[in-house]
Amino acid sequence: MTHLLTLEELSAAEITGLLDAAAGYLGVGRASPKLTTLAGKVVANLFFENSTRTKISFSLACRRLGAETLDFSPSGSSTAKGESFIDTARNIEAMGIDAVVVRHSSAGSPKLLTQHLSPRVSVINAGDGAHEHPTQGLLDIFTIRQRRGTVAGLTVALVGDIAHSRVARSNIHGLTKLGAKVIVCGPTTLVPREIATLGVEIAHDLDAVLPRCDVINLLRVQFERQRTGLFPSVREYAHLFGMNGDRLALSKPGMLILAPGPINRGVELTPEVADGSNSVILDQVTNGVAVRMAVLAKLCGA
Ligand code: NCD
Repeated sequence: MTHLLTLEELSAAEITGLLDAAAGYLGVGRASPKLTTLAGKVVANLFFENSTRTKISFSLACRRLGAETLDFSPSGSSTAKGESFIDTARNIEAMGIDAVVVRHSSAGSPKLLTQHLSPRVSVINAGDGAHEHPTQGLLDIFTIRQRRGTVAGLTVALVGDIAHSRVARSNIHGLTKLGAKVIVCGPTTLVPREIATLGVEIAHDLDAVLPRCDVINLLRVQFERQRTGLFPSVREYAHLFGMNGDRLALSKPGMLILAPGPINRGVELTPEVADGSNSVILDQVTNGVAVRMAVLAKLCGA
């Protein structure tokens, strides 16, 4: 494996290998000392879109493996002077780097970098438009497996803005490869019919599917990627698709509640659900560092 662009292109064995490796990195740098696996390596974080969790998580993962990091964000950079995406990346490459972690609003930008940078530089997709977000998919699956021991045979609902969510696509590919049943549930305008070709069940009534779910992953409405008018109001969305105490009462006991974050309290879920005992939202964040260590070590380690 040289790059990590999608979960679509990974096999079940490759995904399981990364999850197993991640389990070994939990607690490194906290309960146990930092490692030197990537000593002497330089990882550039190129974030052309906003990020809290993913960017900090990759930086911490690098440091816990002994790598140096470079952080780039377009504000304050020469992007504002008209420098192109590829020229920016090639200039940072010229300073001597081993890997690039890239987030961009255009689907396919990480793949484009693999065609313009030296083949010695690993490219890791940290979210490209509405396409994929493979490390988020891996950390979601890792968290499910941590709680349930396995993923095969579980029913997982992805709820919300399926059309514009890169997290949805990475979850669908990863979960179905590992043998989970995936239901995508949202307003008709936010669930493209073609998604059924990926082997998922389509639903528009959350209350009807909830009793069958072992896990639900609550996706944020991606207002920044939408044209307007895809649903009448945020209030109506919350009424039909928001997870709340009443819906929890309809669910299997112990159903896991995931959300990639950022969460909008009162929209995708109520505070009682976000902070309640079914929620593993902060476990996902903790696990994300270990998952990214596994990816970086696999791609750039000796
Ligand atoms: C997600 C993203 O950026 O795709 N967030 C994340 O990486 N944790 C989901 C989102 O923005 O809603």
